[in-house]
Amino acid sequence: MEVTENRQFLQHEADLLLEIIMNRRDVRGNRFTDEPVEEDKINQILQAAVNAPSVGFSQPWQFVIIKSKKTKEQVKATFNVENEKASKLFKDEKQQEYNRLKLEGIFEAPLNIAIFYTDVDKPVLGQTSMTEVGLYSVVCAIQNMWLMARALNIGMGWVSIIDPEKVKQILKAPEGNKLVGYFCLGYTNGFLPQPELELLKWENRKKVSDLIFNETY
Ligand SMILES: Cc1cc2nc3c(=O)[nH]c(=O)nc-3n(C[C@H](O)[C@H](O)[C@H](O)COP(=O)(O)O)c2cc1C
Repeated sequence: MEVTENRQFLQHEADLLLEIIMNRRDVRGNRFTDEPVEEDKINQILQAAVNAPSVGFSQPWQFVIIKSKKTKEQVKATFNVENEKASKLFKDEKQQEYNRLKLEGIFEAPLNIAIFYTDVDKPVLGQTSMTEVGLYSVVCAIQNMWLMARALNIGMGWVSIIDPEKVKQILKAPEGNKLVGYFCLGYTNGFLPQPELELLKWENRKKVSDLIFNETY
């Protein structure tokens, strides 16, 4: 096979990619504005998604675009139930701290996107030993979307405190589909310079030197 293209990036382009990565944030309901996200911007974000790597080039992703208040109300109801359960897992002061956190932006974000893994009914190259790699492929698509959204100055936030089966029902998802993530997207009144959970002292950033091992642990 002949290689006809060999685009080389320049250092300043790599610097720009790193800048987008460093400035990406999880955006929640305390920061979204109600300015609608333009269709061409939604398409650019979805283009980024479908160009992610996937095991065996299986592209096992499907996206449900949600703008309706009725659907958002139903999803918010499952968040409320799950969030109340979650709060009980933390004790004393940590629980009070948890209760003060804003952990979704379902209503505030003009756009919600539910992202599903859809099972492939034939053997997938590369998914034969580690069967969960199909799900990892969908997460690659999600990260592409998060970075593209940030490059377009659109905030995106992951909401995982929901019952995936309820969300499947609400969205009439096919039986074999698995909800990987539910996302809130919209313009924001600003991106924080650090993770909000770090600024609120919920969690600290780990030291890179504690995470990297040479040859073996
Ligand atoms: C798999 C996953 C699930 C997440 N679920 C939630 C969530 O339910 N609610 C929330 O507020 N943030 C959620 N987040 C966002 C993280 O809290 C956030 O990424 C982390 O605090 C670092 O902040 P940053 O993304 O702004 O750098 C989730 C992130 C990931 C990767």
